[in-house]
Amino acid sequence: MADISSKFLGIKSPNPFWLASAPPTDKEINVTRAFEAGWGGVVWKTLGEDPPVVNVSGPRYTTLMSQDRRVIALNNIELITDRPLRTNLEEIKRVKRAWPDRAMIVSLMVPCNEESWKNILPLVEDTGADGIELNFGCPHGMSERGMGSAVGQVPEYIQMVTAWCKQYTRLPVIVKLTPNITDVRMPARAAKAGGADAVSLINTINSIIGVDLDRMIMNPSTDGWGSHGGYCGPAVKPIAQNMVAEIARDAATAGLPISGIGGITTWRDAAEFIALGCGTVQVCTAAMVYGFKIVQDMCSGLSNFMDEKGYKSIDEMRGLAVPTVKNWNQLNLNHTEKAVINQDSCIQCGRCHVVCEDTSHQAIFAVKDGQRHFEINEAECVGCNLCVSICPVPDTITMRKLAPGEMDLRTGKPVSGEYANWTTHPNNPMRSTA
Ligand SMILES: Cc1cc2nc3c(=O)[nH]c(=O)nc-3n(C[C@H](O)[C@H](O)[C@H](O)COP(=O)(O)O)c2cc1C
Repeated sequence: MADISSKFLGIKSPNPFWLASAPPTDKEINVTRAFEAGWGGVVWKTLGEDPPVVNVSGPRYTTLMSQDRRVIALNNIELITDRPLRTNLEEIKRVKRAWPDRAMIVSLMVPCNEESWKNILPLVEDTGADGIELNFGCPHGMSERGMGSAVGQVPEYIQMVTAWCKQYTRLPVIVKLTPNITDVRMPARAAKAGGADAVSLINTINSIIGVDLDRMIMNPSTDGWGSHGGYCGPAVKPIAQNMVAEIARDAATAGLPISGIGGITTWRDAAEFIALGCGTVQVCTAAMVYGFKIVQDMCSGLSNFMDEKGYKSIDEMRGLAVPTVKNWNQLNLNHTEKAVINQDSCIQCGRCHVVCEDTSHQAIFAVKDGQRHFEINEAECVGCNLCVSICPVPDTITMRKLAPGEMDLRTGKPVSGEYANWTTHPNNPMRSTA
């Protein structure tokens, strides 16, 4: 059986699934239930200085749903914990004592001055927690007070605060990054320069979920006024994965451990983040939508997958997909694919034809012998994959790779095998960094 236990910065947990800092980790009662259900660790809801913040009463969470009412994304305008610091610290201490085999990370956000960080760190150490996570990511409410993403958007501040934390605590320091920036490598590099032991990402993305057109007010609203929130859930996974991969393949942050966050709902999502370089993964929305027991499917799914593929440990599969993530100009332009329609399973809905005709390459015939019948016109098909993406019947349209030497009817030339090994080919301008 594969070993799914994780050792991240020396912090052991029975599996790589941690709950992200958010409502599911705000209280002893929640975290105890989470550990009973099997979560490997938690990042406690972000602590701040007393007096605690005051949250709005009214919609704090709003969902974006698919037509079959699945949650695609969640928008929230919640702040950090609104409970007294001492209450949280006492609960953290009790939970860590009761669950010594689980990872207990404490998320922190205090004003951007050395004294504030110096004061809070010993209090956290005293709880017996395994590490701290610096919340440089919350995009609303706290950022207007000069904290959260207001720090995470300025690499110099990230480096400075991280360095203070490394100076005043012996606990491992994880820097949680905001996605509300242009190039995620800059804050990651700053975290490393400040001495961070790891980065975690992503926090939530600035968002307005909608407008109530009857009342002509932003939705959700607090007594008629709204404010942008933080976007998370399955919709943000592709954004998070790109940012994780950017850091994983950046030579300047090579080897910096990563805890992946953003839309993780199934074991597959987690396995993808691990393949892109993450040592642990964190989950918030999926737990808020489905409850804590989803971790059981995540563990068994990951374990079965690893058994099937022969991976003995998380470390063995970590980062395996990273070398395949390249800059666009490193791609092999001599690789050629064409769409193929399986006539046995085609339901003749014609969607592939309509979109190809209207928006792409006019490469799907609609009629044969006077009958409704859809077939690829290889002389026009560029292999763009739009028909595969919109076909409602799985595996009915697939892509076929043309073999070297095979005639490409579109170009009228045989497919060249010359650049088969493009990443190391001398004509590739990027080969030195490939
Ligand atoms: C209601 C809510 C509250 C959150 N509060 C915090 C917080 O206090 N500190 C923090 O670092 N992140 C906070 N987050 C962000 C999550 O930890 C996580 O980074 C984000 O939701 C992306 O993960 P997901 O797609 O699995 O939800 C919050 C998210 C939600 C939905």
